[in-house]
Amino acid sequence: MKIKNICCIGAGYVGGPTMAVIALKCPEIKVTVVDLNKERIAAWNDPDVNNIPIFEPGLSDVVAKARNKNLFFSTDVDKAIREAEMIFISVNTPTKTYGSGKGYAADLKYIEGCARQIAKVATDDKIIVEKSTLPVRTAEAIRDILSNTGNGVNFQILSNPEFLAEGSAVDNLLTPDRVLIGGDNSPKGQEAVQALVDIYANWIDRKKLLTTNVWSSELSKLTANAFLAQRISSINAMSEICEQTGADVTEVARAIGSDSRIGPKFLKASVGFGGSCFQKDILNLVYIARSYGLNEVADYWEQVIIMNNHQRTRFAKNIVKTLYNTVSGKKIAFFGWAFKKDTNDTRESAAIYVADLLLEEQAQISVYDPKVTAEQIYADLDYLNTRSSEENRRLVNVVQNPYEAAEGAHAIAVLTEWGEFREYNYQDIYTKMQKPAFVFDGRSILAADRLKEIGYKMQVIGK
Ligand SMILES: NC(=O)c1ccc[n+]([C@@H]2O[C@H](COP(=O)([O-])OP(=O)(O)OC[C@H]3O[C@@H](n4cnc5c(N)ncnc54)[C@H](O)[C@@H]3O)[C@@H](O)[C@H]2O)c1
Repeated sequence: MKIKNICCIGAGYVGGPTMAVIALKCPEIKVTVVDLNKERIAAWNDPDVNNIPIFEPGLSDVVAKARNKNLFFSTDVDKAIREAEMIFISVNTPTKTYGSGKGYAADLKYIEGCARQIAKVATDDKIIVEKSTLPVRTAEAIRDILSNTGNGVNFQILSNPEFLAEGSAVDNLLTPDRVLIGGDNSPKGQEAVQALVDIYANWIDRKKLLTTNVWSSELSKLTANAFLAQRISSINAMSEICEQTGADVTEVARAIGSDSRIGPKFLKASVGFGGSCFQKDILNLVYIARSYGLNEVADYWEQVIIMNNHQRTRFAKNIVKTLYNTVSGKKIAFFGWAFKKDTNDTRESAAIYVADLLLEEQAQISVYDPKVTAEQIYADLDYLNTRSSEENRRLVNVVQNPYEAAEGAHAIAVLTEWGEFREYNYQDIYTKMQKPAFVFDGRSILAADRLKEIGYKMQVIGK
């Protein structure tokens, strides 16, 4: 079966880049990305390709090459579903904030909404591809909804979790370590798997296209994120021991990372991981384990989250303690708000939680981030519901320039590892700050020795 027409529901951080790359590499396939969010779609269609809603290195070039040739962005969900032979579901699957499983389970209402929409609209056979990260056996629920329409349409459900990392999404999509495709063992199921394999084979070596059963594929995505996050929490746990013992976490990471059994990646100590996925996927895993009565398994993975929360909290508390046990009325400059460099995504960013704790201590925060808007920063703080939005706006000032952020500040806190933070004129910044001038480097990226020579009092995670 040769696919000619693809629809992707969800034009977010996954749907947008993934489909842009498929369109680029498969010029004979028409790819339509749909979303209910009109503003997001309008931004994807902005004549100036630099205004697309997601910042990712290289993405605007890919979009510029394929858009309005074989890549389309639209709000007409029904039309795109009707026309497509293959439908990717790439909608958000946040942690539930209500009812049973609150705080742990994935909220599948957007997934179910898609399945019901497809069931209502489809008039011919379709392959449905789960691109969103989902709990094990979600495909069963989707199949249940789709197979009870009574209109004689056949659906094959595939699991094709996405492993891209924000900040390097385009590279990851162009040259992935592997692509995972889970499908049914039935002949029809295997035919559907093959159709998706053939799409990826346009630019990816077939050896990297791994096929499994649906449940293994769904669980592999949660497992991958749990393992990655666990490495961060593990090195962060060591960072606290380093600070007490005089060991240096960068040296420890290098020493253990040189062991080929361990490897060097994801061993950078920091103020804690963020992003939309790690926390929610582990919580989901914890929920699944508990729901099967596997309490030891659940506790084991939950500890990764507990450690991460601890790392953020202790970073913030250390600022308060170091600034003579009070930050009330003191200006703290935040360098960075995004959860990592090279993205404008702020979901679950450590900066949000560090700010919240400092605001509880009545600090005045001035934020500079090269890609995050003031609107987003206030929305992140308001979402916590810790204080009124007026108060958030009174206590937090968002500026367009790092020098302005640091002017008159008692301390700089580095929350994101943006490369440009290394390049500033720290001599100049020093003269503008209150003395003693403190720097809390939560990403261990600044040249600590040079800053100390200038006169800064440096505190670096894990040192
Ligand atoms: N962000 C990542 O780095 C990443 C990586 C791998 C996997 N994932 C997974 O991919 C999924 C999507 O994540 P994301 O970051 O792209 O989310 P996102 O919030 O950026 O995008 C999801 C989009 O889906 C749209 N949507 C929701 N319901 C809809 C419906 N019924 N019809 C049309 N549009 C609808 C929303 O309006 C939103 O624009 C999640 O399950 C996530 O866990 C994310």
